[in-house]
Amino acid sequence: MAIQIKSLDDLKKMRRAGIVVGEALLLMKEAAKAGVTTLELDSIAAQHLRDRGATPSFLGYYGYPNVLCASVNHEIVHGIPNERPLENGDVLSLDFGAIVDGWHGDSAISFGIGEVTPEDQKLMAVCDESMWRGIAAASVGGHLTDISAAIQGYIDSQGKYGILREYGGHGIGTEMHQEPHVLNYGKPGEGPELVAGIALAIEPMITQGSATTKVLKDEWTVVSVDKSNGAHFEQSFALLPDGKPFVLTSIDGGKARLGALGVDISDLLQ
Ligand code: MF3
Ligand code: CO
Repeated sequence: MAIQIKSLDDLKKMRRAGIVVGEALLLMKEAAKAGVTTLELDSIAAQHLRDRGATPSFLGYYGYPNVLCASVNHEIVHGIPNERPLENGDVLSLDFGAIVDGWHGDSAISFGIGEVTPEDQKLMAVCDESMWRGIAAASVGGHLTDISAAIQGYIDSQGKYGILREYGGHGIGTEMHQEPHVLNYGKPGEGPELVAGIALAIEPMITQGSATTKVLKDEWTVVSVDKSNGAHFEQSFALLPDGKPFVLTSIDGGKARLGALGVDISDLLQ
């Protein structure tokens, strides 16, 4: 299947889905404290979908049982919400998706419960910043792996982190997962040319140790084999007809974080 190119009108719909996702993640982050369970966070996300007239992207996807993925500590991604109360010091990653009018938004954040170690704080900050640098490296006329190389270059400059190889970002639109697959490592200047109307979910996943993972018996939860903690950040963004990026799942469209990297966002969706 070819890369789906979105019109400005399509991207306006994707922005509506993106805002629902961004808002839900903020609501869950606010509620996530020691003693709260990830199933309770899943309920908050499900309620927010109802409030906004949106539907879940994840529920039923290859049989996935919830609207949210919640991964704690050495669970890196695709954790299934459960009844275990969160504890101070946990590193929590929340991944959430919504559909509005047939168009998807997909985003993830990691954060600490109470106080986490400085090492885990840095793990999350490095993962987050690598995602923004990846988005900032995307430009019309450039190539897909410009993004991959920017992500890896930043992570490797910050220390010895494991970058997951088996999972990556993806095209997004009328399906959650579309072509192209976006590697979080590699050389720049390869892969498809980036054009106006492309929409991609950029999602680095890193660990404090080895990048080797396995899937638990629940058939979903991806854990680091060496039990080191992981972080995962994700935003869905597009290149607009004016050639500028816009981060569909970020409440401010990416203005602050891309601005800090010297990149202007499009005002076509504002
Ligand atoms: N948001 C995840 C991704 O970007 C997908 C979650 S898997 C699901 O790949 F089954 F929960 F949908
Ligand atoms: Co995704």
